[in-house]
Amino acid sequence: MQLMDLFGKPLSISKDVYILHEDDSRHENQQQTNQAFTDKWDVYCKEDIAEQEKLFEFQKQWYLSLYGFASEDELAAYLKKKPVIVDAGCGLGYKAKWFADLSPSSLVLGIDYSDTVFEAAVRYKSTDNLVFLKGDIADTQIISNTIDYVSCDQVIMHTENPDMTFKELVRILKPACDFSVYVYAKKALPRELLDDYFRTKTKSISHEEMMSFSEQLTELGKRLSDLNVTFNAPSIRLLGIAGGEVDIQRFIYWNFIKCFWNEELGHATSVATNYDWYSPSNAKRYSKEELMNMVENSALKTIHLHSEEACHSGRFRK
Ligand SMILES: C[S@@+](CC[C@H](N)C(=O)[O-])C[C@H]1O[C@@H](n2cnc3c(N)ncnc32)[C@H](O)[C@@H]1O
Repeated sequence: MQLMDLFGKPLSISKDVYILHEDDSRHENQQQTNQAFTDKWDVYCKEDIAEQEKLFEFQKQWYLSLYGFASEDELAAYLKKKPVIVDAGCGLGYKAKWFADLSPSSLVLGIDYSDTVFEAAVRYKSTDNLVFLKGDIADTQIISNTIDYVSCDQVIMHTENPDMTFKELVRILKPACDFSVYVYAKKALPRELLDDYFRTKTKSISHEEMMSFSEQLTELGKRLSDLNVTFNAPSIRLLGIAGGEVDIQRFIYWNFIKCFWNEELGHATSVATNYDWYSPSNAKRYSKEELMNMVENSALKTIHLHSEEACHSGRFRK
């Protein structure tokens, strides 16, 4: 399969990356979101490689449960039946690389709107069945009904209009093929209000200030975790706060402010996770019903549906 067969036209190329959209978005929030991810990945990809590998491994295991694959072998067997795979919003490209390795006869396209794709193209240059494209996944320019598997993991809520992006990714999918997608879940009211406030505020905050804000949130998460205290929280229905026995860090994290800390994943990954949350202007949250509305509006069949406090995700068939 050649790119020409998917796009029906030649694409320009810059530093081993195919260019779908030369210019950045005309939408202020999408533009800011692209810059936020360019900055985030730029810092993170210079961090300790062992810590990056730990995150990639954690993410791969999570991916299997988000989209209903019992094991990596099951995912590999599935991908081997998919000649063309799109990783929509691939970031640093490690999942696109994973798909390409699991299914060497497939062609994998990793698309991202941030400049991170240039780093991904350098990292994975030697993988022949993997190409990277820079552009907006809401306007892929791919011919309709041509892609055998579309994966959009932890991305769609960062796009300017997630409903339109959803429709675009379904448009390029072949009939009887699957679309895997993840959305952020809505949290308790105090957390939602504070998150919205910060997303507006952080637009006017410099990258350096955002990094130190993320460091401070990480430190808060760490100090609360170090307390190692659980308590029996009351349920406060009107605020959406679930009661029960809960660790104090988790209680504050889910209900009031994102202060991520994970000792195993490490300091840099924890800081990047906090940065990732408050920095991009576009970061819509969903109820399960809202995700299912998008699925039903595109007349997709549910193959797998997953919900946890952080997200709703699933694999849906056209
Ligand atoms: C949280 S990261 C997830 C990256 C990757 N899927 C992963 O799981 O590691 C979100 C990514 O979506 C990308 N993104 C946001 N809006 C986009 C758009 N409209 N088109 C393409 N990529 C977009 C960002 O640049 C960022 O790399």
